[in-house]
Amino acid sequence: MLNFSKKNILLCVTGGIAAYKSAEIIRLFKKNGADVRVVMTESAKEFITPLTLQAVSGNDIHDSLLDEKAESAMGHIELAKWADIILIAPCTAETMSKITHGRADDLMGALILASKANVYIAPAMNTNMWMDKGTQNNYQKLLSRNYTFIGPADGEQACGDVGPGRMVEPNDIIDLIISSLKNGPLANKIVTITAGPTREQIDPVRFISNNSSGKMGYSIAEAALELGATVNLVSGPVSIKADKSINLIKVNSANQMLESVMNCMSDSDIFIGCAAVSDFKPSDYSESKIKKDSADNLDIKLEKNKDILSIVSDKFPSAYVVGFAAETSNVKENAKSKLISKNLNMIISNDVSDKSIGFDVDENEVNVITKDEIIFLKRDKKIRIARNVLNTIAAQINN
Ligand SMILES: Cc1cc2nc3c(=O)[nH]c(=O)nc-3n(C[C@H](O)[C@H](O)[C@H](O)COP(=O)(O)O)c2cc1C
Repeated sequence: MLNFSKKNILLCVTGGIAAYKSAEIIRLFKKNGADVRVVMTESAKEFITPLTLQAVSGNDIHDSLLDEKAESAMGHIELAKWADIILIAPCTAETMSKITHGRADDLMGALILASKANVYIAPAMNTNMWMDKGTQNNYQKLLSRNYTFIGPADGEQACGDVGPGRMVEPNDIIDLIISSLKNGPLANKIVTITAGPTREQIDPVRFISNNSSGKMGYSIAEAALELGATVNLVSGPVSIKADKSINLIKVNSANQMLESVMNCMSDSDIFIGCAAVSDFKPSDYSESKIKKDSADNLDIKLEKNKDILSIVSDKFPSAYVVGFAAETSNVKENAKSKLISKNLNMIISNDVSDKSIGFDVDENEVNVITKDEIIFLKRDKKIRIARNVLNTIAAQINN
């Protein structure tokens, strides 16, 4: 996986000399697979042209809070929600002060208040400005509010002074963000995930299966990887590729899936059953292809497959066990009773009667149900739903 693949990065550029390096930061994010949007303060535009950053990012620049045209394209709240990561680079002393005080009189200030994304700050200023008590106070306050600082670096500055205040070089900024992502809240955790459909063979060429594409399960696996987990992905037959850092185990039938899950669970902390496992399988398997002219009617007797989720929650009581419930009616009620009957920690329900979410599409809309609460995640890309689900699991486990 590219380090920022499928990540939305909001780069905020403020008015310092180092603004000329923001074009390189954008280039590096894009090279690593990110979609980058740029917000510029009024002062930033004195240091580098919006046209340059627009050309490098491939997107329009956002620079005004009070702009009807911009609001009708992607409003400031929408932009705040769009961002997975916000980086302010370079960040001036003025902007540090502004964020410390929670001011929202320009687009950047309002976005930072409105976004739940992790905010990274790469300060860049004269060394005396950095060492000033006002800036140092702001720095301490921002650190205590969980803003992540990258630098400043020590060395010779544009004005000739020497000391702390230089912006960390673009390459190092990117590396530091990558390594902070790897130290995520699921570092040291092993997660086993099932995905896709299963195939229950009738004969060597025919099988019973379903429409699951595996997209949700593969997104869950990617999100777990992003949070630092070691990931086992037990997958039925699908046409999507898994990241090479994921331990992919390909299976066909529900029985094979169960066997692989049991092997993985001996050292797993979390199980997420996202596969659409066939409830039934043919009682008899025909070793040779059943001939069309062997009969006018063909009855296929079916028997129940074993329930992987229930078995995992029963055999591995210390694991955090999550199920998915694809329902077509009474979605929340059915899911809640499944949570209790299967003794799960969490169940994620979605309504597969709505064809625009659920099976074989890129978006989903779900309820995340635990014994204590129901969190509704409104329609969004599966990877973003997956990140939300994994963050909720991580918060529960780490509490
Ligand atoms: C030539 C010049 C260079 C500047 N370089 C910096 C700088 O590197 N860091 C900084 O904090 N402020 C610097 N400033 C001051 C900021 O541009 C000023 O505080 C501005 O209000 C910042 O606004 P902003 O944070 O909204 O972009 C510089 C000003 C000038 C005229």
